[in-house]
Amino acid sequence: MSETARPVVVLGVSGGIAAYKAVDVCRRLVDAGAHVAPVMTEAAGRFVGRTTFDALASEPVQVSLWGERSPIPHTRLGQHADVVVVVPATADVIARYAHGMADDLLTATLIATRAPVVVCPAMHTEMWEHPAVQANLATLESRGAVIVPPETGRLAGGDEGAGRLAEPAVIVDAVLAVLARTGRSPAPTAAPAPASATASPSASASAPASASGEGGGDLAGLRVLVTAGGTREPIDPVRVITNRSSGKQGHALAEAAYRRGAAVVLVTTTDRPVPGGIDVERVETAAQMEEAVLRRAQGADVVIMAAAVADFRPKAAADAKLKKSAGVPEIILEPTPDILATLGARRRPGQVLVGFAAETGDVREQAAAKLASKGVDLMVANDVSAPGAGFDHDTNEVTLLDRLGGAHQVPLTTKDAVADAVLARVATLVARR
Ligand code: C5P
Repeated sequence: MSETARPVVVLGVSGGIAAYKAVDVCRRLVDAGAHVAPVMTEAAGRFVGRTTFDALASEPVQVSLWGERSPIPHTRLGQHADVVVVVPATADVIARYAHGMADDLLTATLIATRAPVVVCPAMHTEMWEHPAVQANLATLESRGAVIVPPETGRLAGGDEGAGRLAEPAVIVDAVLAVLARTGRSPAPTAAPAPASATASPSASASAPASASGEGGGDLAGLRVLVTAGGTREPIDPVRVITNRSSGKQGHALAEAAYRRGAAVVLVTTTDRPVPGGIDVERVETAAQMEEAVLRRAQGADVVIMAAAVADFRPKAAADAKLKKSAGVPEIILEPTPDILATLGARRRPGQVLVGFAAETGDVREQAAAKLASKGVDLMVANDVSAPGAGFDHDTNEVTLLDRLGGAHQVPLTTKDAVADAVLARVATLVARR
């Protein structure tokens, strides 16, 4: 980390048509009080002139590993950076970074730094949706990079689609949020651009209510509420209606959030052991879960509803055991309250909401519809009929759909790895609040 008063932002610019927008990002970051050190790839030079960055940035732009200013510019840049942001990040740079290649100054700096990295992809829709690009981004996210996803709109070729670089104000917000979380917020030197001035220092705005995980992970300072397990709805004192949820994925999420530095509250229907440091509340029914979640959500920056809440419950549970001799009982069901939809309607400003959609059939379509109808930021779509995925397995396979239209596939892996993929996405969404 830098010892200078101003946080050092290494601004990496790779060779896409959106490189011109990096000029605006540079200006806004300097206005916000950052020391901006630009690094361009050779290809970026075809889209935007070096002189422009030289004029606007805090130090001259660098392009080569073999520059004159320092024999090892990538280590100097990497070690002094408080954050590295890549604007735009092409499919090529994303791939080289994900695979640890270091064959130019930008990728060498990315590999040499221990600072947080913000990646802002921009490319054509076909490239953006290619599984190789998505897999590389998922790799980077799982290592802690903040991805600022592209927007849907008019692209360079004149056609419409996903892949257009996020707006400079959004990118600057993400960078400032990362700096705030690491205690390196700049003091503005000029009137900042309006959107970047609204970047919320999430770390200070969200002092943990309970113990937080060790170390300065990407969720440090955040309060995360996770639900887990299937609810049990009583028919009578001995019988319940329930579902096949094991609670494994929810517990994995709570533990991973704790490891990543969050203060975690876990509302669970299971009696699985929970590591010390996580604040656990055990419940049984949808009504109890609703009461606990609405109470706990008031202090939460992130709510992850991984629980399989019953959709229906007996309208009235019998006080005494129903006798077999009395014949087959007629059980009248009523809908349970939709906790997630209630949270979506009442959400605190800046709160990030995550839902799970356990489906069969056209999982992605159904999950996208739920994302919209429940007003959440991220939906974890889960084909529970896929081999090795869903209830009671130790593995899972999901697609992460976000409100901006982004879709990340997480191939069959452990529930711990799925938890980390979800939380990496959450960290990105928090950075964009
Ligand atoms: O509508 P569906 O049950 O498929 O929605 C799943 C998501 O909504 C999950 O995140 C689940 O925890 C949440 N949910 C809820 N309250 C309900 C039913 C589901 O919060 N009554």
